[in-house]
Amino acid sequence: MKKITIHKPDDWHLHLRDGDLLKLVLPHTAKDFGRALIMPNLTPPVITTSDAESYHREIMDAVDRDMDFQPFMTLYLTEDTDPGDVEDGIAKGIVKAVKLYPAGATTNSSSGVRDFSKINETLAVLSSNSVPLCVHGEVVDGHVDIYDRETEFIERVLAPMHKDFPELKIVLEHITTQDAIDFVLNTPDNIAATITVHHLVINRNHMFKGGIRPHYYCLPIAKRETHRQHLVKVATSGNANFFLGTDSAPHAIAAKESACGCAGIFTAPVAMAILAQVFENEDALDKLEVFTSLSGAKFYGVTPNPSFLTLGKESTPVEFPASIARNELEVSIFDPEFDLNWKVID
Ligand code: DOR
Ligand code: ZN
Repeated sequence: MKKITIHKPDDWHLHLRDGDLLKLVLPHTAKDFGRALIMPNLTPPVITTSDAESYHREIMDAVDRDMDFQPFMTLYLTEDTDPGDVEDGIAKGIVKAVKLYPAGATTNSSSGVRDFSKINETLAVLSSNSVPLCVHGEVVDGHVDIYDRETEFIERVLAPMHKDFPELKIVLEHITTQDAIDFVLNTPDNIAATITVHHLVINRNHMFKGGIRPHYYCLPIAKRETHRQHLVKVATSGNANFFLGTDSAPHAIAAKESACGCAGIFTAPVAMAILAQVFENEDALDKLEVFTSLSGAKFYGVTPNPSFLTLGKESTPVEFPASIARNELEVSIFDPEFDLNWKVID
């Protein structure tokens, strides 16, 4: 069997939710990943250091004792965020990043930021502490076509922010366009981007193949095939400024299969198998570890995980379940719609 062993991956953008959903999805990340950066868009959001401490406890209570998994906490940035509290959270080691949601851009973002001038003091705190600002990079202006929202955000918000805070570490999350790739390639190394598993696999046609397919709906929305191809090229290139953040975002099936379905794709159980396949297709399996386990750690200033993960390639396609469930709650797992011969074996 063909095998590959890599330092245990990290997921630099993950939605774990809380309550039953947390208990349902967490083991699927904790199995394959050493650490994950946990998104704060709960209801209510994780805004203060004290919120992050409680949420951290809830996650740790849900982690199996024999799992070696560490959640890294983020704060949800609002116009009323207290920069002093952010500084305290950083000093305590609990706050690893702050997440900027433009208000209305995505799931549970209504407490996000409308007037970007109101967050300058917090950005100054992040900059002087070398703590990253993670950005959901889409404008919310209803006049802007949904497929252009990332590109507009880069021009209108991100480029000026980088100019005003040239030292600030920024991660442009879940990039979907060639424009985002170019922005990162043409800025210094304090600007990086995460790339999801699903954006390496689907283009915008997937949402409409044979009917409306809510399980391929996420934000930022998948773009044209040419953009997907550029994402695959840069993810598999070994460039350290592009690393894995799955944006694995579970929603109950009923919330997805609805007249107004939620954005979010749950990839955690199949993320590593799909990535191995994508990297092998590009003849770039030797770059998989850089993307999943080394570059993000370097950007966040931590050493790679000391443990390892081994993936093996079967001669026949591996079967993965279509969903996972706990009590009444069922969550659909991302289907890449191609055969997966890789699986995590150790
Ligand atoms: O598709 C998405 N789902 N995009 C986001 O930005 C949020 C996420 C969620 O929380 O469900
Ligand atoms: Zn997300």
